[in-house]
Amino acid sequence: MYYPEEIVEEVRQRNDIVDVISGYVRLTKKGNNHFGLCPFHNEKTPSFSVSGPKQMYHCFGCGASGNVFTFLMNYENYSFVEAVKSLAQRAGVTLPEVEYTEQMRQKENRRARLLEINKEAAKYYYYQLRAPQGKSGYDYFAKRQLSDETMKNFGLGFSNKTSNDLCLYLKQKGYSEELIRDAGLAIFNERYGFSDKFWNRVMFPIQDINHRVIGFGGRVMGDGEPKYLNSPETEIFDKSRNLYGLNFARTSRESSFILCEGYMDVIALHQAGFKQAVASLGTAFTSGQANLLRRYVDQVFLCYDSDGAGTKAALRAIGILKEAGIIGRVIDLKPYKDPDEFIKNLGADEFQQRLIKAQNSFLYEIGQLEKAYDLTDPAGKTRFHNEIAKKLCGFEEEVERENYIEAIAEKYHIGYEALRKLVFSYASKTGMVAPAVRPKSGQQEKKRTAEDKEKLSQRLLLTWLIEEPGLFEKVKKYLSPEDFTDELYQEVAGLLFDDLSQGKVNPAAIISHFTEEEKQQEVGLVFQTSLEEMQTRQEKERAFHDIIVGVKRNSYNHFTKKLGSDVTALARVIEGKKALEELERTHISLEQG
Ligand code: GTP
Ligand code: MN
Repeated sequence: MYYPEEIVEEVRQRNDIVDVISGYVRLTKKGNNHFGLCPFHNEKTPSFSVSGPKQMYHCFGCGASGNVFTFLMNYENYSFVEAVKSLAQRAGVTLPEVEYTEQMRQKENRRARLLEINKEAAKYYYYQLRAPQGKSGYDYFAKRQLSDETMKNFGLGFSNKTSNDLCLYLKQKGYSEELIRDAGLAIFNERYGFSDKFWNRVMFPIQDINHRVIGFGGRVMGDGEPKYLNSPETEIFDKSRNLYGLNFARTSRESSFILCEGYMDVIALHQAGFKQAVASLGTAFTSGQANLLRRYVDQVFLCYDSDGAGTKAALRAIGILKEAGIIGRVIDLKPYKDPDEFIKNLGADEFQQRLIKAQNSFLYEIGQLEKAYDLTDPAGKTRFHNEIAKKLCGFEEEVERENYIEAIAEKYHIGYEALRKLVFSYASKTGMVAPAVRPKSGQQEKKRTAEDKEKLSQRLLLTWLIEEPGLFEKVKKYLSPEDFTDELYQEVAGLLFDDLSQGKVNPAAIISHFTEEEKQQEVGLVFQTSLEEMQTRQEKERAFHDIIVGVKRNSYNHFTKKLGSDVTALARVIEGKKALEELERTHISLEQG
C-alpha cells in the first residue's frame, strides 16, 4: 500500500463522513441516518443515506455505497491516494513522505515535468493571444463570437508566426529539447532542425478532468490544411481516455452530457449555457471515452454534424455508448451543420427545444436505414421491414423488444402483429431470440442465481454482524472466515472477525483496507445488503439459522469439490459435515450473551 494503513485509518477517522458529504449534498437527519438526493444518479426523492455510526453511505436507488474515501473517489473522480491526500489536508493530518522506489520517483518526476511544460506552454500561448502579435488570433475568435470570458475560461491562446519562439522560451525556462519534444510541443526534422510544432494557429489547450493541460489543438485561421493540428499522444496525453470539456461538464450537475465533434462546438455550447457538452479529441469516439462518461451519466445526447460523415460517426458512437450501458439520443440540428452554427442562428432556447426532442438512438438508426430503401417499391419496402425485424432481434429483453416493436409498427405503419411475426420468424431462423435457445439461457440464469444466492447469504451474514455485533459469539461457534468461499468476502470476514473478537465494529475501516477502487465498491456493498423486513422474532431467528446453515453448506460443498487437490480440504470437509448436521438440529436463539 502507498500509505501505512494506520495513517489511512487516522485520516478516515478525522473526517466525519456526514460533515464531508454535507459539503456536496444537502442532508436531512432522520433517526440515526442522514438522507439526501443521490449525487450518483438522477432522482427526485432522496434515497441516499449517510450513516454516522457506520461512517458509510448507501444509495437505495442506484446501490452506490462506501466510506468517505470512496465517496470522494466517485464524486471527484480521485484515485484512492488522491482521496487520502485531500482528506488529510482537510483534517490537518500530515502524511509521511512516501518512500518511492527510484523507478517510481523517475516516473512521477517525468509526468510532473511533462504537465509542467504543457502548463508553461499554455500560459505562453495565452499571453500571445492578448499581445499585439496575437491580434489576428484574437480577431478570429472574436469573429466567431467568443466572449473574453469564454476565451479566458477555456484558456484559449495563439501560437506565433515565427517557427520556434515557444521552444526558445521553454529552453530559457530550463527545459531540455528532449522534454519539449517528448511533450509534443516541438518537432525535429533533418531539414529545419528543431522547431515549434504549432505556429500561426489559434490554440485550444486540452485539459484533463483536474484542469491540468495535457495537450493542444491548434486551428488555422481561415482555410488551410490541416484545419486542426493536435498534439501527438504522449505519456500524459491519451486521446482515447480524455474528452474536451469534461473538466467543466463533470461539475455541471446535469444528468446527461452532450457529445459533439469539435472543440468549437463544445465552446459555443458552454458559452450558451450548456456546460454539459464534451467532445472527443480529433479522433473518433472510443469505448474508453464511453466508460469515462459512464462514471458521470447514463444518458448522452449526440450532437454530431448533420452531414453524411457526422451521421456515420453518430451511428458508430451509438453502438459504443450502448456497449458501455449508456442510453444515446440524437439531436437534430437541421438545417444547420453543427451546434456552433445552430446556436449562432437560432439561439440557446431553440437548442434546448431540440434537446428535449432528441430522438431515441434506435429510432434514429431505423430512420437512417430507411433512407437506403425505395419504399414506393414493394420489394424495397419488404427488404426494409426485414431489416427492421433483424435489428429488433438485437433486443434480448422481451419487454424492451415489445416496446420497440410497438413504436416502430406505429411510426412506419406496419401492422403490429405482422411485425411481431416477422421478428420471431427472423429470430428462429437465425437463432437470435428464438424460443429454441430459451432453455439454454434459462439454465445459465439458474446457475447464476444459485451462485448469487450463495454470495447473498454470505453478504447477509456480514451485514447482519455489523448491524448486531452481539451475534458474533453465536456465529463464531459455527463459522470461521474460511467458510466464506468468495475470495473477497473471505478477506472481509477475516478482518471483521478480527475486529469483532476485540469488541470493535469498523466497517468503514475495512473498506479502506482495500486500495483498489473496484474492491472498495464491492466491500461497501457487502455491508449494505438489505436485511429484508423480518417482522417477528421467529422470522428473524429462522432467517439467521438458515443463513448460517447456507453459508456452512456452501463451504462444505466448496471444499468437497476440492478434495484430492487440496490437502486442507479434507479436514474442512469432515469438520463441515459434522457442523452441518449439528447446525440443522440446533435452534439458534437471537438472545445475546
Ligand atoms: P470549426 O471549423 O472551427 O468550427 O471546427 P469544428 O470544431 O466544427 O471542426 P470540424 O467539425 O471540422 O471537426 C471536428 C473535430 O475534428 C475538430 O474539433 C478536431 O478535433 C478534428 N479535426 C478537424 N479537422 C482536423 C484535421 O485536419 N486534423 C485533425 N487531426 N483533426 C481534425
Ligand atoms: Mn464548426
